[in-house]
Amino acid sequence: MRSVWWQEGVFYQIYPRSFQDSNGDGIGDLEGIIARLDHLNDGTARSLGVDAIWLSPFYRSPMADFGYDVADYTDVDPIFGTVSDFDRLVVEAHRRNIRVIVDLVPGHTSNQHPWFLASRSSRKDPKRDWYIWADPRPGGGPPNNWRSIFRRAGAAWTLDAHTGQYYLHHFLPEQPDLNWWNDQVRGAIDDVMRFWLDRAVDGFRVDVASGLIRDQQLRNNPRLRFRGWPRLRNWDLDEVHEIHRRWRKVLDSYPGERMAVGEIGVRDLRRLVRYYGADDELQLSFNFHFLEQPWKADRFQRVVERWEALLPSAAWPDYTLSNHDRSRATTRYGEERAGAAAVMLLTLRGTPFVYYGEEIGMVDVPIPRDRILDIDGRDPERTPMQWDGSVNAGFTTGAPWLPLAADATKRNVAAQRDDPASLFSLYRRLIWLRKESAALRRGSYRTLPAPSGVFAYAREAEGERVFVALNFGKARRRVSPGSGEGRVLVSTDHARDGDGVDLGGFALAADEGVVVAPR
Ligand code: GLC
Ligand code: CA
Repeated sequence: MRSVWWQEGVFYQIYPRSFQDSNGDGIGDLEGIIARLDHLNDGTARSLGVDAIWLSPFYRSPMADFGYDVADYTDVDPIFGTVSDFDRLVVEAHRRNIRVIVDLVPGHTSNQHPWFLASRSSRKDPKRDWYIWADPRPGGGPPNNWRSIFRRAGAAWTLDAHTGQYYLHHFLPEQPDLNWWNDQVRGAIDDVMRFWLDRAVDGFRVDVASGLIRDQQLRNNPRLRFRGWPRLRNWDLDEVHEIHRRWRKVLDSYPGERMAVGEIGVRDLRRLVRYYGADDELQLSFNFHFLEQPWKADRFQRVVERWEALLPSAAWPDYTLSNHDRSRATTRYGEERAGAAAVMLLTLRGTPFVYYGEEIGMVDVPIPRDRILDIDGRDPERTPMQWDGSVNAGFTTGAPWLPLAADATKRNVAAQRDDPASLFSLYRRLIWLRKESAALRRGSYRTLPAPSGVFAYAREAEGERVFVALNFGKARRRVSPGSGEGRVLVSTDHARDGDGVDLGGFALAADEGVVVAPR
């Protein structure tokens, strides 16, 4: 199999509001990201060494959903900078061999987007059909029983008194859904993609990519025994795949392996793999199962094995432990497990997505009541990046938009940089090891027999073989991944790096993860 940058590389998600503020307004911006690119990859093993960044939205937006409510797809919000700042960011990233993908939010716009303002202005407006409008049901009330994904938003419908109809929104009322049955909408989003592809972006992370298409007759979701009201009529419909094939054509019309990764909100892996199509849809579909597993070896092993078994042969897996919508991995599993989690994420067969701050073990930050901003409780995992021990952790000279972690003076990049035992050092060792190892970047995957509480596997390519063993438990465990002499390439216990081991049997400490290779 020919492999390409988005298969072999490590992605890093930046939430622009929280990465680095450059002008003291307390909110991160593009200029700030540029200033911190050397942290991500300066070409040496002192930097993290990631190969690509995914930027959450920085477009013009009233920020009802912090940028996922886009009012202009082809402009940068003044809070974040300008389009020319963006161009500079791409140049500076590319100079460091960092690819750049941007968030494409095709499912909905802001209610302030000119398309929606036109659409709501009159039932006769040419853009009326760009959104989904429907009459109240007989006797009044929303047209059907669809609910917003945000529990607190309630019904997925809001009445617009001006024209007497309801409009559909699967998130906030400030985020009206585009009507993807409409060809002009499809064309308009193609244009948005081309705008950014022309500015040399390497691809997209596609927001809510499995939504988009809804039952045209707007029928109610039926109630199923034991399952409540699953979104059978407004989610993951077959017709959405046609849109993904269309996007793939746009991507393929550009040189240089442009790609997209879909946020596919579909739990069932059998349905998730359908989003790879016949290698003619988006190149990657996010597998979110790691975000939902308890810290148990057999649970992670099962996700990996099922994913490996179900993926079509041309399709490439991916893994992620954290993002801007979920509690951070270090909070979910506990600090002492962050190391083994990193070893797993960065050594499985598949593209790893690292969330900003994960490399230093950032945790969810409790938000005082009067500072809560997000309707869906996601502020704790979006707090400012912790760079150093100074005021506001070097994130801003002003008042940060969200509070910093209480431990930011201790847990930060500067404090971990020269400490070989730090999590940041472990991330760097793992990422730089991948660069040297074809087995880790593109090798095959095979589960190895292991004692209970241990997840072990082999990666193999072109005569190179690497074993990984992860102790999920608190007891020492003996593993025997092979035979003969081996060497520790990386361990969560850095003192073990380079040690010789007997592959026929060696011990793993509590919470330890190791990568070993035959001598
Ligand atoms: C996606 C984003 C999330 C956003 C939602 C609506 O799930 O990841 O942050 O709120 O879409 O755009
Ligand atoms: Ca700023």
